Amino acid sequence: GGCAVRGQARLGSSGAAVRKAPRAAGAEEAGEDAEVNTRKKTFTEVQTERSEQAERTVLIKCPPKLNEKKLLQYLSSHGNIESHFFFENRGIHAVIEFSEKNSIASLQDAIGIPSSAEHHVVPFKSRLFTFTLKNPVSQAAEETPVHLSPQSHIPVKELIQKLCDADSISSQMYILLNEYQLTEENIKLRFLACSLVRDFARAYFPDSTVKPFGSSVNTFGKLGCDVDMFLDFHDIRKHGTKMKKGPFEMEYQMKRLPSERLATQKILSVIGDCLDNFGPGCVGIQKILNARCPLVKFSHQPTGFQCDLSVSNSIAIKSSELLYIYGCLDSRVRALVFSVRCWARIHGLTNSVPGTWITNFSLTMMVMFFLQKRSPPIIPTLDQLKELADEKDKHVIGGYDCSFVSDLSKIKPTKNTETLDVLLGDFFEYFGNFDFRKNSINLRKGREINKPESSPLYIWNPFEQDLNISKNVNQPQLEKFVAMARESAWILQKEDKTQQVINKEPWGLAALLIPFGKSNPSKMKNRMKGLGSETIRSLLDSLKLNNATSLQKAAGK
Ligand code: GTP
Ligand code: MG
Repeated sequence: GGCAVRGQARLGSSGAAVRKAPRAAGAEEAGEDAEVNTRKKTFTEVQTERSEQAERTVLIKCPPKLNEKKLLQYLSSHGNIESHFFFENRGIHAVIEFSEKNSIASLQDAIGIPSSAEHHVVPFKSRLFTFTLKNPVSQAAEETPVHLSPQSHIPVKELIQKLCDADSISSQMYILLNEYQLTEENIKLRFLACSLVRDFARAYFPDSTVKPFGSSVNTFGKLGCDVDMFLDFHDIRKHGTKMKKGPFEMEYQMKRLPSERLATQKILSVIGDCLDNFGPGCVGIQKILNARCPLVKFSHQPTGFQCDLSVSNSIAIKSSELLYIYGCLDSRVRALVFSVRCWARIHGLTNSVPGTWITNFSLTMMVMFFLQKRSPPIIPTLDQLKELADEKDKHVIGGYDCSFVSDLSKIKPTKNTETLDVLLGDFFEYFGNFDFRKNSINLRKGREINKPESSPLYIWNPFEQDLNISKNVNQPQLEKFVAMARESAWILQKEDKTQQVINKEPWGLAALLIPFGKSNPSKMKNRMKGLGSETIRSLLDSLKLNNATSLQKAAGK
């Protein structure tokens, strides 16, 4: 309905909102640009466009009240402003995108360096500025409040209220999607954060770039999620092809280290130090160099993002692109993922810190697998996407074939017309009854495969076929997931919406987003407090579940 359209529109230039017009007869002559405008953009096109936009962008801290027109007028003397927005993050900030990159140099030339008696500034000239009024009192009269673009989602309580007013589970799911998904402005800010970190990386490696991956770009990001960024030395590869031409060979003399891992650790370590010592607003730097995937964590105060910086991992980028494609194919895909992720977070099945629980990444893959298994399927298998790949889509990374089609228009739309009401209930039923002991989840084939080893939950890494992306999940966490899925399937099935609406009780998706123990008397909780044993605790947990179920059964009669 109307919600679905809005949900797509908010995606803006990330591609999904672009009209999907059948290719016109004259499209070929109209040239490349016209073609790009009438079809959905590929992942790489979107990434390149946004990275380039971010390089032309500055971030300005503003006084609490300001005259928007005057600020823009002042900045326009350095060049044309392509777009701008304001947001609140410990004060008002303006994000200004110029049409030309050299406008920034012109602005940087014109502005001053802070002088302070008690601090000594590090003279690194970034694209973060502070704007002040010379005579705040006399200018106060002209100041008007500016529109602030929200950078966080509404609280769950408010969301549940909104969901109760919807007319179907399907529209509830689109409401959730609209409230939680990244906005155009938030995506721009994420690319800007990467671009600002890149400026530091370039102090050491002039050819390097820093780009976002993960949920910032895979269409499944929620407002408030971290920015996963990687450092890439793309020019190294470009030189690799140049060397072979002509009768000579020349190469750089470079420091040689015994392993790629060690090189990664050394590079991340110095860039981490650099951000820590000289980066304006970079705080809480943590170097986690001994992890399987070494990274530097930090908080970027000017944009308000928690950032994870790692060194380019081609497979992770391919995973982001694969999810991007699935997310763009059908509006039901993102709606279902957002609902399932929100449900899992509320019931403690996922957590912001790593542990033995399911990750959002694994959960998303489980939703994709479920959508592949519908009849007819809602999204294609990875093998089918590979068959559609052309020459330029061929990628072999570390011996693994990671080829799949990048042009979305080559993928046939699904014939499946199931509603999200049906899909949500069936998702819980499907995984509530999945034979996890015997079967593994394989998105390449789109079907269950006998588990190759005994991990409780086995989800094949789509590209590194011998790895399990959910190896961290232990048996109690998997059992909790199954129990919650069953409980949720049951709640959706036995529901009497009319009665619930009359009683002003949460219904549909809203009923699933309230912790299940909450409506019960707290006796059970109190009795559990003194018990230390995991086993007894989980036994009680399951009793509590059964109890809740029979209570609801009785109430339903
Ligand atoms: P949220 O941050 O929770 O919104 O989702 P995310 O997809 O960004 O997950 P996360 O920040 O944990 O990881 C970033 C990216 O790293 C993911 O999108 C994946 O591409 C990759 N990744 C994360 N966990 C795994 C894993 O266990 N195995 C593999 N192969 N890749 C992973
Ligand atoms: Mg992430």
